[in-house]
Amino acid sequence: MSSSAVIIDCDPGVDDGVALLLAFAAPDMLELRGITTVGGNVAAPLTARNACLIREIAGREDVPVHAGCARPLRREPVEAGHFHGESGLGDLPTGSPRKGPEALHAVEFLIHELTHAAAASISLVITGPMTNVATAIQRRPEVLRGIREFAIMGGARSAGGNITPSAEYNIYADPHAAQVVFNAGPPVYAFGLDATHQVRATPARTAALGALETPAARAAFDLLEFSNALPANGPREQGSPLHDPCPIAWLIDPSLFEFRRCHVDVETESALTAGHTAVEFRPRADRVQNVQWAVRANGDGIFALLTKRLAQSGKA
Ligand code: RIB
Ligand code: CA
Repeated sequence: MSSSAVIIDCDPGVDDGVALLLAFAAPDMLELRGITTVGGNVAAPLTARNACLIREIAGREDVPVHAGCARPLRREPVEAGHFHGESGLGDLPTGSPRKGPEALHAVEFLIHELTHAAAASISLVITGPMTNVATAIQRRPEVLRGIREFAIMGGARSAGGNITPSAEYNIYADPHAAQVVFNAGPPVYAFGLDATHQVRATPARTAALGALETPAARAAFDLLEFSNALPANGPREQGSPLHDPCPIAWLIDPSLFEFRRCHVDVETESALTAGHTAVEFRPRADRVQNVQWAVRANGDGIFALLTKRLAQSGKA
């Protein structure tokens, strides 16, 4: 598989951090055009700083980071610091990165890159609230021409929600933005909780990372150990779910996942179910089935890929 041009929009975030470490460790497969950050797990200035810190650990300051939207399209911000720590990167040391974000706002970067890209040439990974991407689409719909597919961590069907009984955090944090992206037109590969809950950071899997000596592997181990120590993530021997690395792992090795074609609508108004993803597998004349919904994930294969890649991270 030749390398693909990729933009990652994220809210680092412990698992976003692991996803970025994996992406930075696959330069042969992923041509990273840029990282855009958004307010989500923690506030926007912190997610931008955290992306720069992870980039520094990975030795990939060749990839620009652009800070983005601080607030969702319409609803009030909802953070998830209880899962990511006050800094957003668990217990990782956080100071000022050597190199900070670029001056250009994330939305303007997305508009420039996507309107100048060849048709259907860029894979746009989203692992946080979709505010930046939805804003770019609403401001300049012609950005859609440059998108090959969206690869999104978000949503839930049979797994139920993780921030309310019916909603997964990324969708809940900005349901209006999610509805724009799911129905914008380009193909969507959706890695919801149905799939990510099959990918668990068990002690055996994290131990394999902990045995490595590269800075990226050490950082990934520390981030996953922080998650595993949180009572809210369940018993340690079960391992916390590895959400955000899933779309990155898929770009590197698509065989690690199985999908079902569907249409997805997002509840935006109900106080009880806002952020719910209504996943319709049945073909309907009035709905375009533009979404591939991940139904199976190969947890062993994903961790083997992560371990192999981080073992080589930063080496020529
Ligand atoms: O529900 C999991 C998602 O919410 C992940 O992207 C995690 O980083 C949080 O943002
Ligand atoms: Ca995230």
